[in-house]
Amino acid sequence: MLEFRDVPMPEPAAGEVRVKVMATSGDSRLRAARFPAGMNLIAHGLFGFRRPRQPILETEIAGIVDAVGASVTRYRPGDAVMAFPGGKMACHAEYRCVAETGPIARKPEMLSFAKAATLCFGGSTALHFLDVAAVAAGDRVLVVGASGAVGSALVQLARHRGAHVTAVCSARNADRVRELGAEAVIDYATTDFRGTLTAFDVIFETAGSMTTREALPLLRPHGRFVAIAAGLPDMLATIGAPGRQGRRVIAGPATERPQYVQQLADLAAGGTLRPVVDGTLCV
Ligand SMILES: NC(=O)c1ccc[n+]([C@@H]2O[C@H](COP(=O)([O-])OP(=O)(O)OC[C@H]3O[C@@H](n4cnc5c(N)ncnc54)[C@H](OP(=O)(O)O)[C@@H]3O)[C@@H](O)[C@H]2O)c1
Repeated sequence: MLEFRDVPMPEPAAGEVRVKVMATSGDSRLRAARFPAGMNLIAHGLFGFRRPRQPILETEIAGIVDAVGASVTRYRPGDAVMAFPGGKMACHAEYRCVAETGPIARKPEMLSFAKAATLCFGGSTALHFLDVAAVAAGDRVLVVGASGAVGSALVQLARHRGAHVTAVCSARNADRVRELGAEAVIDYATTDFRGTLTAFDVIFETAGSMTTREALPLLRPHGRFVAIAAGLPDMLATIGAPGRQGRRVIAGPATERPQYVQQLADLAAGGTLRPVVDGTLCV
């Protein structure tokens, strides 16, 4: 649900820039308060019980700097930028202030505002879990949910690290995921990959369709199962998961690091990371 309201114009503090928002992306799950299994109480505690604690939702913008605070040195009015305030939200707005030392970077020139506004949610989640799982050149990686915001970034960034990527998504997205760098693509509607694939160094699960019990036998010794879409029961199950032969289970929230925004802008500018946009709405 979207509702148009007039709110006071935000004024940039000394170290902040004000961005005129040209494009923003959205998380339908958060907007609908559709949280992972078992997370309702924690999520409502964070985001609000009867109504959103932060009434202006969404986490990510691309736009043009239109005003700067007194001590700002890195940006000037007119600069095209992308920013990821993340959990602080307030991005579905015409203007958003962001600290110049915060989660903001110059927009890569060849990206439209719409594309730049989709880089960070999936991209920063991917960067976080690629680091935690220590994905390295030569690793065999399985990405379940490879056509989504997180999965499409994982495919590209794992390839960039020199990993071999097998992807799971629907048939309609197979070509796109292959173009992003997957060496093999499996249609989850027609193939039960759990029974046919083995010997991965890392499995990224972004679809909530694979349990720890199902994933561990597909891993090599010292392999990592990264349960990105895990709900609370899955997360609790990982605590006592049988990590035989050094196999590990990784779950929990991704850390939002301001430096990821610059890293993602650089990766996009260099052509390594291509944002995937299914559609845009103009208001
Ligand atoms: N832990 C964290 O900090 C963190 C951070 C961000 C997101 N997340 C979670 O990560 C998950 C993914 O987020 P997202 O924004 O990337 O979602 P998304 O854009 O909706 O992508 C979901 C993906 O799952 C695929 N899929 C659907 N059903 C499947 C099945 N049965 N088997 C295999 N793949 C299937 C879809 O493929 P098709 O479209 O081709 O059908 C799509 O690629 C969400 O649960 C989100 O809450 C967690």
